[in-house]
Amino acid sequence: MASKVSLTQYLVEKQREKGLIPAELRLLLEVVARACKRIGIAVSKGALGGVLGDAGTDNVQGESQKKLDVIANETLLEANEWGGNLAAMASEEMDHSYTIPHRYPKGEFLLLFDPLDGSSNIDVNVSIGTIFSVLRLPEGVLAPTDDHFLQPGTKQVAAGYAIYGPCTMLVLTVGDGVAAFTLDRETGSWTLTEDQIRIPGQTKEFAINASNQRHWYPPVKRYVDELLAGRDGPRGKDFNMRWVASMVADVHRILTRGGIFMYPRDRREPDKPGKLRLMYEANPMSFLVEQAGGAATNGLQRIMEIRPSKLHERVAVFLGSREEVERVTSYHQDGD
Ligand code: AHG
Ligand code: MN
Ligand code: MN
Ligand code: MN
Repeated sequence: MASKVSLTQYLVEKQREKGLIPAELRLLLEVVARACKRIGIAVSKGALGGVLGDAGTDNVQGESQKKLDVIANETLLEANEWGGNLAAMASEEMDHSYTIPHRYPKGEFLLLFDPLDGSSNIDVNVSIGTIFSVLRLPEGVLAPTDDHFLQPGTKQVAAGYAIYGPCTMLVLTVGDGVAAFTLDRETGSWTLTEDQIRIPGQTKEFAINASNQRHWYPPVKRYVDELLAGRDGPRGKDFNMRWVASMVADVHRILTRGGIFMYPRDRREPDKPGKLRLMYEANPMSFLVEQAGGAATNGLQRIMEIRPSKLHERVAVFLGSREEVERVTSYHQDGD
């Protein structure tokens, strides 16, 4: 390979030399990357671009939408609808899936996205991102509906995220490890800056919103108490804590230097299985983390084996360094 590898070269290699992905998937991923580039440009304009603040609307999950939630959603829809490789798209910000209009050719893939992850960080200039996942349209389906998206995460053919931080990066898997690309703002090209990312098995860093501590169930409380006890406690070492409140940024840190990320279900809403969305957040991040040698569970089972029952399904999330995820999962074996 040449010393500087572009996203296109990386994907062409997966297609041509390894036969891992069809050309249609490569083209689709390039369009997603292009849309992320556009979102990144809008993000970087901040107040000058008039993109900060509330949109004045709510999404289907009852969250108030920021202007950038709406702009990012529109950007992804517009960029992807005419490419010819998609049958439909689903998003955190739309009530139902969006079928490709008849005027465009239709493809065999389904695209799911969290257009803007970390909405609470937009107005305070902290890293935010876009998360995406690609599934196949089940064979023989002519008119895709929400139900056709309800496939377990193991069926994903690609997943990734863009992070809009001090630099803009794209982190991607097509099931052959995890690669990171950095956007060269001058040339506008995505350049491979790390291939075959590996999460260290062990860690001394954890991520959880500790303000919810009083609502946690015993397995999570036990696990975090043991971490906080430090070198004098049962773990025999000190742990550090980080919580950005943008899943993209927290997962990016874990892919870079290890750690465990947790967003458990808790007593605030005992009937809800968690806050994060299975289809737009948990599944794509689990695919990346597993491809990097880590693990991802909901405390009871592997996230990617969950059979979704609805598009906007929520799920508890424990992901990152394998040994830590296995430990907190084992604490759940006796129930909450
Ligand atoms: P989104 O901005 O797409 O709605 O996602 C926000 C998510 C996730 O990015 C983050 O890990 C979590 O919400 C933060 O939640 P808290 O504000 O409860 O800490
Ligand atoms: Mn949201
Ligand atoms: Mn999100
Ligand atoms: Mn979002």
